[in-house]
Amino acid sequence: MSTPLVRAENIVKVYPDGTVALRGVTLEIRGGEVLGLLGENGAGKTTLMKIVSGLLQPTRGKLYVNGREVRFTMPAQALRMGIGMVHQHIPLVHNFTGIENILLGLKGVRVEEAWKKLQELMKQTGLKVRLDVPVEDLSLGERQRIEILKMLFRGVNVLILDEPTTNLTPLETRDLFKLLRQLASEGKAIVFISHKIKEVMQVTDRVVVLRKGRVVGRLRTRETTPKELASLMVGREVVFTYPPKKPVERVEDLLVVKDLWVTDDLGRQAVRGVSFTLRSGEILGIAGVEGNGQRELVEALTGLRRVDRGRVYFRGDDVTNADPAKLSFKGLVHIPEDRKNYGLILSMTVLENVLLGLHRYPQFLKAGLVIDWGKVAEHAKELIRKFEIVVRSLKSPARSLSGGNQQKLIVARELSKKPSVIIAAHPTRGLDVASTQFVRNLLIELRNRGIGVLLISSDLDEVLDLSDRMAIMYEGRFLALKPTREYTLQEIGLLMGGVGA
Ligand SMILES: Nc1ncnc2c1ncn2[C@@H]1O[C@H](COP(=O)(O)OP(=O)(O)OP(=O)(O)O)[C@@H](O)[C@H]1O
Ligand SMILES: [Mg+2]
Repeated sequence: MSTPLVRAENIVKVYPDGTVALRGVTLEIRGGEVLGLLGENGAGKTTLMKIVSGLLQPTRGKLYVNGREVRFTMPAQALRMGIGMVHQHIPLVHNFTGIENILLGLKGVRVEEAWKKLQELMKQTGLKVRLDVPVEDLSLGERQRIEILKMLFRGVNVLILDEPTTNLTPLETRDLFKLLRQLASEGKAIVFISHKIKEVMQVTDRVVVLRKGRVVGRLRTRETTPKELASLMVGREVVFTYPPKKPVERVEDLLVVKDLWVTDDLGRQAVRGVSFTLRSGEILGIAGVEGNGQRELVEALTGLRRVDRGRVYFRGDDVTNADPAKLSFKGLVHIPEDRKNYGLILSMTVLENVLLGLHRYPQFLKAGLVIDWGKVAEHAKELIRKFEIVVRSLKSPARSLSGGNQQKLIVARELSKKPSVIIAAHPTRGLDVASTQFVRNLLIELRNRGIGVLLISSDLDEVLDLSDRMAIMYEGRFLALKPTREYTLQEIGLLMGGVGA
């Protein structure tokens, strides 16, 4: 066999706080193939690839590129040897445009030439994105595409993608997979990090499964099955089963939305006359391709974005343009889409993050005035246990949690506020199989207890499985809103594509 482009040998990684993320991992990355790196939250996938791409140094073990041993101390060195990584959380400079971000750090590049080359790349790859607006005005999906373009622009040979489909629509995912196959057929090596088995089956040639810092499986994709991968990944077999839905006794109109109009950051009308009623004891799902106003709708309902026209009533009170903190205190909680910016303060400790938004609750105050840290710690420990959140200590910074565990922490904290309405935007995004099951079951249980859940998700299976009624959102409008079982799949597909509008 030819020399692999990259060989990581017996890699051990111990983080400064003592966490052992990798316990001797050996892995080869070869040109001409898409390699899947599969594993649950916290398995060590991101850590391993950060080592390969020069962002972290291994505690022990060796790294070879084209057969020669290398020691990277920064990503620029790996990039120079053709290794580039697109991260789970995109570190773009927010007030720079896409093209500025792409050219950042490159010397002697003529902007017009770069522009031409990028247009060409976009045409070849189908990765369409606006490059002339500040990236803070772009969706997470668009930001990710800029990062991929940036790597391709730099001519990488080994392209590592850390959960790249998380913020993509199904169509965009399909295009991305086409691109990955195309790049592999040109001889490049692709590493596709994911815990979505379906996607790993679709796009990879080989799969390496990590569990708790060790390789537990090396397989050829065409010789394995989703079941085998699932049981390797979690150490047991998984099937999604849900608790039965029960009718609730007293039905109340919890959230009433009337003819809502909202503008997005670019001044476009993103929500155009949406009306609905969310009742107690139901999950109302909003499906649709992302970028059709879902984000702006959620932000408007939770007080994070101004409503231009229309009204929002929560348990009879007019809460149009109300303060987000007040809303959550009243019992309308939000599991945000952009967890990195809204959900956690990464530099603060796990304990402090648990307190975020709970500091007004009397049970965490001494004499109604000072924060009772002992109570907060007790509460935090309970959340960590119930949600199986992997943290080293309550004093660890939130930054040190794996991506999935950060998300579990937010979900746990929000649900612990004892809400009457939960607005859940992509609540299982980035979560592994076990955590996904956990959160979905919890939403059903809360529904059975009479809570109203507004579920926004780009995972159609999730909306179909969980929601009692479902709306399809397209270009700022609800194209349909009826009991979920009354839809046919074909109808949903057409509505999602705007057919029938
Ligand atoms: N900076 C850090 N300091 C301390 N521990 C860390 C740090 N980053 C990650 N870890 C820990 O290392 C382990 C592996 O984390 P890693 O982010 O590599 O997992 P992952 O497989 O990418 O998970 P996910 O699917 O949730 O993104 C976890 O236990 C995590 O908490
Ligand atoms: Mg990760």
